[in-house]
Amino acid sequence: MAEFRWIVMSSFLMLQVFSSRAATGQLVLSFTVRDGDEVTLPCTNVLEDHKNCDTTTWNFGHSRSRAVALVKDGKIGETAKAKSDRLSVLENCSLVIKNVTDEDVGRYICRQYRSGQHIRSDAVVHLSVVTMTEHKDTDEVTLICSVSTYGGCRHTVKWLLQGQDVDKDNKDLKTSTSSCRASLMFLTSHDVYTSRYKTVKCEVTEGDKVKQFPFNIWPSGEKKGDCDNDHYNITNNNSFNIDNKK
Ligand SMILES: *[C@@H]1O[C@H](CO)[C@@H](O)[C@H](O)[C@H]1NC(C)=O
Ligand SMILES: *[C@@H]1O[C@H](CO)[C@@H](O)[C@H](O)[C@H]1NC(C)=O
Repeated sequence: MAEFRWIVMSSFLMLQVFSSRAATGQLVLSFTVRDGDEVTLPCTNVLEDHKNCDTTTWNFGHSRSRAVALVKDGKIGETAKAKSDRLSVLENCSLVIKNVTDEDVGRYICRQYRSGQHIRSDAVVHLSVVTMTEHKDTDEVTLICSVSTYGGCRHTVKWLLQGQDVDKDNKDLKTSTSSCRASLMFLTSHDVYTSRYKTVKCEVTEGDKVKQFPFNIWPSGEKKGDCDNDHYNITNNNSFNIDNKK
């Protein structure tokens, strides 16, 4: 009885770890990162006795295009030339993509070969990318946070103010959300703007995974800060001054 319970428990845990299981029995993992980030896509089906990932192929495909081999026999493939300087393969055959862009959105398949034969089920990773933009029209500003996905939208996207949902009755901050996209509108006189977006974050949820992305673009076309996603170092940028009087 105890053993039976353990089996039930461990199957439940497996479901938590692997976000979905395609009909073919493939494991599908899902990653959501911001454009400009680096991501490591794990190859969970790698053979234990590989040498420099010589059994591993990574294929990439997105909607309505043929899959291309990014990595063949553990080496960055010819067809991946356009992005090859952003790709690398780790010792455990995980695929690293630096400076992720919208074009990297898609389905990544780690496949194992032995003596030219395709063996084991594929390990599949879906990559989604979060993009944030600012649009300014005289004294009205709109921030847009959107997620590009492979296949349909599986994410919810919303803006947070000081870590909280934006109050529906707030007259100075308007939000609107649609599939995989949320916008936030305000005037340049608003705190959100004068504090250089320090108080707003975009929250992206997929299943039980929740991620918050600070808006780290300077208002009104000022240079994008060099800060990373997790914190926003205002002290390095004291020289910025926002002129509200115009
Ligand atoms: C592969 O190696 C990297 C770096 O050492 C590590 O972060 C990652 O968790 C490993 N992935 C797997 C699937 O073992
Ligand atoms: C990242 O990609 C963008 C757009 O493709 C490019 O403008 C930028 O220079 C790249 N950054 C780095 C650090 O390579």
